Amino acid sequence: MCGIVGYIGPKEAAQFLIEGMSKLEYRGYDSAGIAVFDGHKINVEKTVGRLGMLEKKIEQAPPKGHTGIGHTRWATHGRPSDVNSHPHTDCTGKFVVVHNGIIENYLHIKEKLIEKGHTFTSETDTEVVAHLIEEYYDGDFEAAVKKVLAEIEGSYALVFMTEYEPDKIICTKQDNPLVIGLGEGENFIASDIPAIINRTRKTFILSDGEMAIVTKDSVWVQNRQGVPITKKIFEVNWDAEAAEKGGYEHFMIKEIYEQPKAIRETMLGRLAKDDSSIILDELKWTKEDVAAIKKIVIVACGTAYHAGIVGKYYLEQLARMPVEVDIASEFRYRSPLVDESTLAIVISQSGETSDTLAALKEAKRLGARTLAVTNVVGSSISREADQVIYTWAGPEIAVASTKAYTTQLISMCLLALYIAGLKEAIAPERLKELIHGLKELPAQAHELLEDVEPIKTFAQQYGFNEDVFFIGRSLDYAVALEGSLKLKEISYIHAEAYAAGELKHGTLALIVEGIPVIALATQKDVYEKTLSNIKEVKARDAVVIGLAMQGDEQIKKYVDHTIFIPATEKYLTPILAVIPLQLLAYYAAITRGCDVDKPRNLAKSVTVE
Ligand code: G6P
Repeated sequence: MCGIVGYIGPKEAAQFLIEGMSKLEYRGYDSAGIAVFDGHKINVEKTVGRLGMLEKKIEQAPPKGHTGIGHTRWATHGRPSDVNSHPHTDCTGKFVVVHNGIIENYLHIKEKLIEKGHTFTSETDTEVVAHLIEEYYDGDFEAAVKKVLAEIEGSYALVFMTEYEPDKIICTKQDNPLVIGLGEGENFIASDIPAIINRTRKTFILSDGEMAIVTKDSVWVQNRQGVPITKKIFEVNWDAEAAEKGGYEHFMIKEIYEQPKAIRETMLGRLAKDDSSIILDELKWTKEDVAAIKKIVIVACGTAYHAGIVGKYYLEQLARMPVEVDIASEFRYRSPLVDESTLAIVISQSGETSDTLAALKEAKRLGARTLAVTNVVGSSISREADQVIYTWAGPEIAVASTKAYTTQLISMCLLALYIAGLKEAIAPERLKELIHGLKELPAQAHELLEDVEPIKTFAQQYGFNEDVFFIGRSLDYAVALEGSLKLKEISYIHAEAYAAGELKHGTLALIVEGIPVIALATQKDVYEKTLSNIKEVKARDAVVIGLAMQGDEQIKKYVDHTIFIPATEKYLTPILAVIPLQLLAYYAAITRGCDVDKPRNLAKSVTVE
């Protein structure tokens, strides 16, 4: 994930910028850069690669000056490269900007600015911001920034500097964090607290829509209308390690809590404003392109494979496309029936999983069109595939995948609806309803994360059981698979997921008194059937935790405990239903004293066969 730092004061800015950026390295990045005002002009130094490469680049002649901004980039728009690294400048080099987030309407702005004669050097969405400010500046930096903000859409933390008014740095944010650190005769800016805690512990956090004008002696905060805002200053008392985790105990729980934001970012710019269509500019398919696809194969490993199973339901039911899903290590050796009329979709958080990469190459060799759904721009899989849909979840550090999964589901849903739209396989009204449902998900995910106490209690109550079963039908079965994987991975509890209707064909023999069974019952069309399966396990004295949709009063009669998710469209339930299961796994692992972020024997990215 991108990181931002800024400094204004009496000391050499570059020193703090590099130090601050090094504290943000844990977040993952692919390039780094700084801009420092030397008293006459702004000097920009940036490079693709690790921070060490930037340090080497500036070793002989570090940029001198007391005002500067810096950035570690985690590529979203445009591959990792020197020119795509931040800071970005306008045509004159007199304005610089660093940015975290996504400018949704950048293409439109870019076209307009090119017509006006601006020359762009990068593929990024950020560069439009630098040119926009050049366009609007008429002697008042603050006013120009306000005009830029009125024009851009999306999510951002933005920090600006200009040679015209070098005594100040201006920053603002929308849906991306930005922290101001207060020193004596100096002030600091950062996207995350770890960057500044070595220098000051007096901080405040900017809120959405606020703009801070930072000089060495003062920080003025105002809203977009110019109304001054008094911020509450707080003393950070976290140690460096806690600060990296944003105050959370583990990366996994931090990433679970990042899901509302990650889901929102995955959808950013991809849903038409009037809810009428899905916009996937990275594909730009025609009706003919879609008509040429006779079969889809989805291939992936681990959690990404589970996202593929949900994807199959989406593509079959919404877009009426025939779909096969396979585990990458199986697909590559089974002489799959794949040819030019096949679309092969590989899903991979890291974009580096060896089996998935090999499966992608095999599908290509057989003539298939290929599409990668991945989180890492410039990864091997993103480079190998014909086309890519990025999930924009931000870096995932915990081994157990959480926000990568939910954003993969969103991506698969968007793809299915996109194809359905092109095929006219879905009624416009139905498409609207689903898009509306998608838009509600971030707030609903947030709501779910507000009350975790009951889940903690279940985890404490059942965390020492050696076996747990998950059952469900249809999409609930797909989510059950992921829920059981989470529990296995981090709490080492033996957990199995079964299609509820399949229980009686063998697994029911394992259901004995006191065995916890987590029964997912969110799917209306198979609800009664699921209730019958719940009765089957209850009759064997299992302890049943029912996971159902808010408003379902009936379920309470059949289960011992209930977990409710906010009411949503049937296709969108997996995105919400998995969250309590992630939490259950997390708290069970805590109860058992397991190493949550680094479970035994497992690796985040498996680059060997
Ligand atoms: C490893 C990780 C899993 C992940 C799988 C696939 O096994 O521990 O969490 O789901 O690889 O990774 P990918 O990066 O391809 O999604």
